[in-house]
Amino acid sequence: MSTYTRTAKILHWGMAALIAALLSLGFVMTGLPLSPDKLQLYAWHKWAGVSVFLLVWLRLLWRLRHPAPPWPAGMPRWQQRAAQLGHIALYGLMFAIPLSGWLLSSAKGVQTVWFGVLPLPDLVAKNKQLGQLLSEVHELLNFTLLALLAIHMGAALKHHWIDRDDTLRRMWR
Ligand code: HEM
Repeated sequence: MSTYTRTAKILHWGMAALIAALLSLGFVMTGLPLSPDKLQLYAWHKWAGVSVFLLVWLRLLWRLRHPAPPWPAGMPRWQQRAAQLGHIALYGLMFAIPLSGWLLSSAKGVQTVWFGVLPLPDLVAKNKQLGQLLSEVHELLNFTLLALLAIHMGAALKHHWIDRDDTLRRMWR
């Protein structure tokens, strides 16, 4: 069985865990009343989000230099095309979501200081209305990601349990 490289697997599962944590944290923290704890959670969310933004560049470069293993034998053409489009959309969201977060934070006038050490430049000037709009964009992109992840994981499990091919194993072992 030909599999993904070890680096691709580490990036895939490491980023999956980080993104799952960011999604949960994002939805929980926004519902909390204002407090020092809430601000701390926002800071962690932003640090982890910027880390995803940096990691996805590395991941894309790695992916471009190391092609994926071939599709399982007998996989219909439309499924190959759908999987390919889904993967491109997931990469797009892994760039767009952190970028919209960074933009919204800048527009709301709250600079991001990565891990409390490295101040990142604000990408736009403070603008309350723009901040509100970008916050809605960030939320919408996250719901889109949730929907795509459901399809992505559903397809992986279907390949594993129903088609009984190596699709999941080649990213796992
Ligand atoms: C893959 C990376 C990221 C994911 C999956 C993610 C996910 C989320 C989610 C699910 C929410 C809650 C949305 C809502 O219901 O309003 C949220 C809110 C938020 N995120 Fe992110 N985020 C990411 C990256 C970032 C980054 C890089 C920043 C800033 C540097 C950021 C800043 C914020 C802020 C400030 C909010 C609160 C919005 C508000 O209060 O209006 N996020 N995020």
